[in-house]
Amino acid sequence: MNIHSEATARQQRAPVRHFLSDADLSADELREVLDLAASVKADRGRFRRVLQDRSIVMLFEKPSLRTRMTFELAAAQLGGFAVFQDHRDGRIGQREPAPDISRNLDRWFDAIVARTFSQKTLELLAKWSSVPVINALSESFHPCQALADYLTLLERFGSFDGLKLAYVGDANNVAHSLLHCGPQLGVSVSICGPAAYGPRPDDLVKARQVAERNGCTVEVGEDIRQAVQGAAAVYTDVWTSMGWEAETQQRRIAFADYKVDSAVMRLAEKRAVFMHCLPAQRGAEVTNAVIESPQSVVFDQAENRLHAHKAILIKMMEDNHGQAS
Ligand code: CP
Repeated sequence: MNIHSEATARQQRAPVRHFLSDADLSADELREVLDLAASVKADRGRFRRVLQDRSIVMLFEKPSLRTRMTFELAAAQLGGFAVFQDHRDGRIGQREPAPDISRNLDRWFDAIVARTFSQKTLELLAKWSSVPVINALSESFHPCQALADYLTLLERFGSFDGLKLAYVGDANNVAHSLLHCGPQLGVSVSICGPAAYGPRPDDLVKARQVAERNGCTVEVGEDIRQAVQGAAAVYTDVWTSMGWEAETQQRRIAFADYKVDSAVMRLAEKRAVFMHCLPAQRGAEVTNAVIESPQSVVFDQAENRLHAHKAILIKMMEDNHGQAS
């Protein structure tokens, strides 16, 4: 099939499955993607041609180390390739409208991976794209990060049964993705931080409904001791995420009592791990002692970005373009 007829065929095939937020995968699909990630991690050779002749384009409005490197490497190690377009200086939609960008890119590429300031930009790209759009972080969600994080927990504990994850600090994009994925997998999630920086009410309602169905809980509060008690994972992120730099000083004050230090870790389960999506501000949201301690799994999380990204690329290709190899 040549590129023109393939593009036409894609446009006739509806609807396109995207991965814009964690809600785009059912609980079964989430487990399927995590199982696939574990399989590609265990046997890289078996998957080395899965994306042969497939290409992805990566549009990034914000800086990245982990997400960019691991998506590029994932595409290459699966037999495909990635093209990066830096949008840090000119936001998506500034030079030409997002719908036009999508309708160019979907003629050439098999998937669009985008890191944007706004979730709405992702939604607009997706609306006009005949190939899947994958969220590589927006202000609302970071679903690819959550895949790697729950894969890390599965590896560490062997199962999700009875696990509680305590998230300390700003209920940012990472926190929202953890909040949605955890209850789907049966993991209880407890978010603690200043009330003004808590999770979005609609997301909280949805996460609680899922938790109720799956026999786990979702808690939100300001008491760090209560949140961390009984947790198998203590997770934090920077107090000022990308895009909120103007609030850095006020956030430093607001979050001063939400630093993860050794005393906080002692309140969690004895076997508890420390998690962070990175980059970290040592001395702010986490002490150097904790992030460098044997409990810390931050580089396992970073490693698992690669395997999680391979899995979501395979899943999106199969769902949208049929069997990848
Ligand atoms: N955690 C994460 O997304 O890292 P990068 O910003 O470096 O991609």
